[in-house]
Amino acid sequence: MTESFLDIDGISHGYSDGEGGIFDISFSMARGEFVVLAGRNGSGKTTFIRHLNGLLKPDKGRIRLHGNDIFKDIIRTRQTVGMVFQDADTQIVGETIFDEVAFGPENLGWPRRRIDEKVAETLNRLDLLRFRDRHPATLSGGEKRRLTIAGILVMDPELIVFDEPFANLDFPATQDLIRQIKAIHREGKTILMATHDVDMVIEHADRLMIMAEGKIAAQGPAGKLAPELGRFGLKPWCACRKIQESDQWPA
Ligand SMILES: Nc1ncnc2c1ncn2[C@@H]1O[C@H](COP(=O)(O)OP(=O)(O)OP(=O)(O)O)[C@@H](O)[C@H]1O
Ligand SMILES: [Mg+2]
Repeated sequence: MTESFLDIDGISHGYSDGEGGIFDISFSMARGEFVVLAGRNGSGKTTFIRHLNGLLKPDKGRIRLHGNDIFKDIIRTRQTVGMVFQDADTQIVGETIFDEVAFGPENLGWPRRRIDEKVAETLNRLDLLRFRDRHPATLSGGEKRRLTIAGILVMDPELIVFDEPFANLDFPATQDLIRQIKAIHREGKTILMATHDVDMVIEHADRLMIMAEGKIAAQGPAGKLAPELGRFGLKPWCACRKIQESDQWPA
């Protein structure tokens, strides 16, 4: 039996006004999987995601990482699960790009030399090293998104959760980010991505999960479920027919 990585067992979360929320979601991820989470506006994707590192607490149900409840050691959980939110500004706290990425490792008490090396390496990887002394507020939207990813990647999490990573990015920036995410995945990271641009990433994903009205409406292998996207009111994937005809998922 493969080791269980992330196990979500019947979680629900209601908001005080009685609208929205998520209901009875059970879901597991194997280590190294790439899952795309799709669903219409307000279907509960962000609410669900915010539970994975304990930012929201479920009203019922539980979430386990490596078999342990995520609240048992919340610091460990937050090191294991990195979150990249849609609104980069809410995640930015540093005075310079370098400080921003050094913030997490400093909080963990890493030795200075290790921090300096790892931060420089991560900034370089995301093509941000040349901006190292600038204030984060001076970056463009796409650069800020890369900065947020650098701040997560530097901590070497096992699971990286992306919430609408392509929002407000132009086509080349989207393609560049897809390349980065694919590389991160190839290195063995587990990836969960909520996106409205399913068609941009689906061929790289192992599994697709579709939410509707706070529940899981469908889940399954990405190739199998891709042709169903339209049925859930989501943007259909134009290459579906080609795949159905050839019966082959592009590598
Ligand atoms: N803090 C909150 N208080 C009350 N209701 C909330 C709160 N946060 C979210 N909701 C409601 O819960 C529902 C799900 O919201 P959520 O942000 O999880 O959806 P989403 O699938 O991420 O949508 P989008 O695609 O627009 O990002 C919505 O109806 C939303 O209005
Ligand atoms: Mg959302």
